[in-house]
Amino acid sequence: MREQQYFVILVIVVGAFQEVNCHIEKPLSGIAIHKTTFHLNEKAHVNASPAVLGSNGQHSEHVLVEFSSPYPSDDDWIGVFSAADFMSSSCPGDNKKSVNRPRVCSVPIKFQYANISNPRYNSTGGGSMKLQLINQRSDFSFALFSGGLLNPKLVAISNKVAFENPNAPVYPRLALGKEWNEMTVTWTSGYGPHVAEPVVEWGIKGGKSKLSHARTLTYGPNDLCGPPARTIGWRDPGYIHTSFLKELWPSSKYTYKVGHRLSNAGAFIWSKEYHFKSSPFPGQDSLQHVVIFGDMGKAEVDGSNDYSSTQRPSLNTTRQLIKDLNKTDAVFHIGDICYASGYLSQWDQFTAQIEPIASTVPYMIASGNHERDWPHSGSFYHGVDSGGECGVPAETMFYVPNQNRDKLWYSSDYGMFRFCVADTEQDWSKGTDQYKFIEHCLASVDRKKQPWLIFLAHRVLGYSSTSFYAETGYFAERLGRVHLEKLWKKYKVDIAVYGHAHNYERTCPVYQSLCTNYEKVTTRVQWMGQST
Ligand SMILES: [Fe+2]
Repeated sequence: MREQQYFVILVIVVGAFQEVNCHIEKPLSGIAIHKTTFHLNEKAHVNASPAVLGSNGQHSEHVLVEFSSPYPSDDDWIGVFSAADFMSSSCPGDNKKSVNRPRVCSVPIKFQYANISNPRYNSTGGGSMKLQLINQRSDFSFALFSGGLLNPKLVAISNKVAFENPNAPVYPRLALGKEWNEMTVTWTSGYGPHVAEPVVEWGIKGGKSKLSHARTLTYGPNDLCGPPARTIGWRDPGYIHTSFLKELWPSSKYTYKVGHRLSNAGAFIWSKEYHFKSSPFPGQDSLQHVVIFGDMGKAEVDGSNDYSSTQRPSLNTTRQLIKDLNKTDAVFHIGDICYASGYLSQWDQFTAQIEPIASTVPYMIASGNHERDWPHSGSFYHGVDSGGECGVPAETMFYVPNQNRDKLWYSSDYGMFRFCVADTEQDWSKGTDQYKFIEHCLASVDRKKQPWLIFLAHRVLGYSSTSFYAETGYFAERLGRVHLEKLWKKYKVDIAVYGHAHNYERTCPVYQSLCTNYEKVTTRVQWMGQST
């Protein structure tokens, strides 16, 4: 096994942005939208242009927003709302006595301070900004607020802006299938299965193409577990389609496009064309570059949502991953994916951010506390880090080759690797279904074909000196090693990678707290992110 090590390169980013602890305050959570009062003023205005976006098929465009206020202040801000009609007569959970006035029931999908481009805004009252919009299946409006984020006073609302086809198929993401010669492609659209049939046209590059059908998933507020996901953070997720491209030739270049055949007209609506390379034959001597990281998050390239800047470095990591795409075969994002934490518009924005990566190489995920944790929802930890999502958006937006969508553990063979991916947010202790899966995954690998056995999980189940572990005296998740360490030793796991800690750490091969040898790791480990 060891003489094959030079074929393998793992590039590992552990924690792609800075964070002091694992409880992040989302920028949108700082807006007390439920306290909004109405002070619409005829002398104030907001104008957005162009009004129609995506005329050339693009799914991301900048909009110029110009505004003025007769009573400007440095804490004025512009909120971007989608759908554009964001005022309501009542909100979920309203006391009936208080609903005889207009209400704002949803946070904006992004926001920016009014003085961002004009330091003299508080005296001139005029300003402008360029904001990037992505196609999120609905129209947009821009609203000027005074009173800061904590006491929003709605002063003016803009014209509506919309993408030419808000339903268009967007943001394809590839994932490894259940068999080595299967690739799956998942995408988002506004076309439900009742109006159009989701399809993928694909084929080996230069060869004949064929059509594959796709399944469609979605979810509603009642599928989620609590606020803000079910209340002010709720946004319709549209439809998420997954197609299974089977019986691929090994290590071959394929092209594909995703689309919909309209039920009434029979016409097709297509995405642009993408490409990917299929998996090598199991055990085939080949060079593979696999990038593993956790905790990346998302940020807005236009600088909006920036009062809490902890996730700005996610743009650096994304850019670097894109730059390295021609030497990357697969990506594993092992939990804490976009930190939407109940603000569901962020999932679309994240899939747009990683589109160049996920549409070209398999983008495999694991579950983290920010996707899954919610009290009494079946999560192993009872925190509220998922913001009421309790795993539903993550397991719907991304495909993994598991048996049960809510049980986000799976195995995947890729070239000379077997990956056993655990779900730290659900019980892994001895006797559980997950423990049985982990043992089966480790025990069933054919080491002649997959000499490298890799264990991946979000929280640190092995060893860590990160302060929030060290302070507890456990130096990792309590009970992690107690239940799993014997398995790792028995089945000779080569490498385990975790996220969650936001620090780069590497240990010697260790068993029951002692280094078993000090042999240098010959795998190249490259640090690409920022750490605390
Ligand atoms: Fe985490």
